[in-house]
Amino acid sequence: MCGIVGYIGKRKASEILINGLKRLEYRGYDSSGVALYENDKINILKQQGKVNQLDRMIPHDMVKSNIGIAHTRWATHGFPNYENAHPHTDNSKEIAIVHNGIIENYSAIKKKLLQDGYTFESDTDTEVLAVFIGALYKKTKNLEQAVRLALNEVDGTYGIAVVSSYEPDKIIAARLGSPMILGIGEDEYILASDAAAIIAHTKQVIYLEDKEMVVVRGDGYSTKTIDNLATTGDIKEIDFDIEQIEKSGYEHFMLKEIFEQPDSIRNSLRGRLIIDKGNVRLGGLNSVRDKLLRAKRIILTACGTSWHAALTAEYLIEQLAHIPVEVEYASEFRYRNPIIGPDDIVFALSQSGETLDTLAAIKEAQLKGATTLGIVNVVGSTIARETEAGIYLHAGPEIGVASTKAYTSQLTVMALIALYLGRQRYLSQLDGKRIGSEMMALPDKITSILAQTDKIKEIADQYYQVTNCLYLGRGVNFPLALEGALKLKEISYIHAEGYPAAEMKHGPIALIDENMPIIFIATQDEIYDKVLSNIEEVRTRRGKVIAIANEGDTRIASLANHVIYIPNTLPMLNPILAVVPLQLLSYYIAIKLGRDVDQPRNLAKSVTVE
Ligand code: M6R
Repeated sequence: MCGIVGYIGKRKASEILINGLKRLEYRGYDSSGVALYENDKINILKQQGKVNQLDRMIPHDMVKSNIGIAHTRWATHGFPNYENAHPHTDNSKEIAIVHNGIIENYSAIKKKLLQDGYTFESDTDTEVLAVFIGALYKKTKNLEQAVRLALNEVDGTYGIAVVSSYEPDKIIAARLGSPMILGIGEDEYILASDAAAIIAHTKQVIYLEDKEMVVVRGDGYSTKTIDNLATTGDIKEIDFDIEQIEKSGYEHFMLKEIFEQPDSIRNSLRGRLIIDKGNVRLGGLNSVRDKLLRAKRIILTACGTSWHAALTAEYLIEQLAHIPVEVEYASEFRYRNPIIGPDDIVFALSQSGETLDTLAAIKEAQLKGATTLGIVNVVGSTIARETEAGIYLHAGPEIGVASTKAYTSQLTVMALIALYLGRQRYLSQLDGKRIGSEMMALPDKITSILAQTDKIKEIADQYYQVTNCLYLGRGVNFPLALEGALKLKEISYIHAEGYPAAEMKHGPIALIDENMPIIFIATQDEIYDKVLSNIEEVRTRRGKVIAIANEGDTRIASLANHVIYIPNTLPMLNPILAVVPLQLLSYYIAIKLGRDVDQPRNLAKSVTVE
């Protein structure tokens, strides 16, 4: 969603800010803007539209400023137009702020400011905060104090950066529930809401804590709480390299990330499987090992693709560890007074680690005494920090809005957790070894699926004009049907639905005619024969069948219009392989339709609003 970049140093701020915003484009946005301090005043350029347009508006040759802040906005309060784009200013136009998050009590603050004679140009909560800071500056004549006082009055979430011509030697930034990172370079500092905007300049960073702020000058910085208590501001190292957030010759990040899956899965597995003992080493869970062993129930909560990964994990954990599992949409969980208590373990799955609904679900679970654990990709993200313990995916940065490699890493890590729990309960060493060896073989098997890309592209070429699509699977392949459908709809805008294959006859069968492609995940398991019957039912109604089947399957070719074969593995691990053709199919259909696959309309990479 929204993105923030700030710069203070010796170099030209405008270029660094624009390049930083370009690194954040993947998060999704609809307007962009920049505030630069120059000629004793704050100069603001903003617009509805892409960062490239903003870049063209800036006379880089003439602008010399070396301090500024910039923003990409994903509209929440008010339309995506010029007025609502950030930065926003106070009434004097001498203080500018950019803001991620939502100020929940903005109406009350605005009402009071209106009574005091202040005026507003936009519909945003952010402008209210800017005007509020301006009003407090009038009283205190101290920018830091004005920001601090304002932040103590607001409810909601924020990541903010503030510049002012009153005190032009500094940027002030703060966070509450919305990330803010200070990059420490040589004689310069870069502030950003996402490490992707910092990595080109430095790997040394401070992740601000909730209610922490930083005052950054060209020659140093100080961190403190918004109550003015000094903090330590621990310096950490960004855990990825710049090449990982570049396209490296691929046409799109999504395609690159699909092709990275052999490596991302290797990285998720690295050092975690002890094959000769059939065991799993998960250092991140050591501190909660006893609680996990005592667990009578596990709750998995997540949104979107991460929720699909959680649904698959339910099968894996119940099968290997015999612990009852419930899977909850994070957005529903938090509002329905869930029955949970101190004996429950709640795992939150999130690629970004910033999804607001998932974060709120964790807080609800914590309030009720449950142990909360994070399965997160982005190191240092809010969910990783708010949970008691957890495991990183180590999939590397995922830039494409449609999750691909993070999903397969989520499945991999959840399989590791299931094995870890299983081995400490009922699972034999022999079974542990067998499952572990199969997991180690997954990356090479994905490589062989990727070698079929041309064939999958041909299928996409035949079906890209359809308006509806059905994805069907049973057992552990049912969540995969949901994920296949989500992948297609989010990047191609074709309507798609996922169903358990046997449910088809209870309704969706009415949709089937000769124009309807049905993608069956028909891999070998104990219900394979039943899936073949479902395929027959579709063929009888002249639906077009695209099947994902295992190599060596001699029966399916005569039933399906197209078969994509994937290598054999244990049925419980099949989704990790079978999703790859589904990702490629969606990608090539979307390309054929000319869609913006990396930044599909209306979508954001991390959803930090309700
Ligand atoms: O970062 P998270 O995993 O918490 O994100 C959850 C969903 O917003 C995300 O999976 C979304 O559904 C993706 N666009 C799916 O491709």
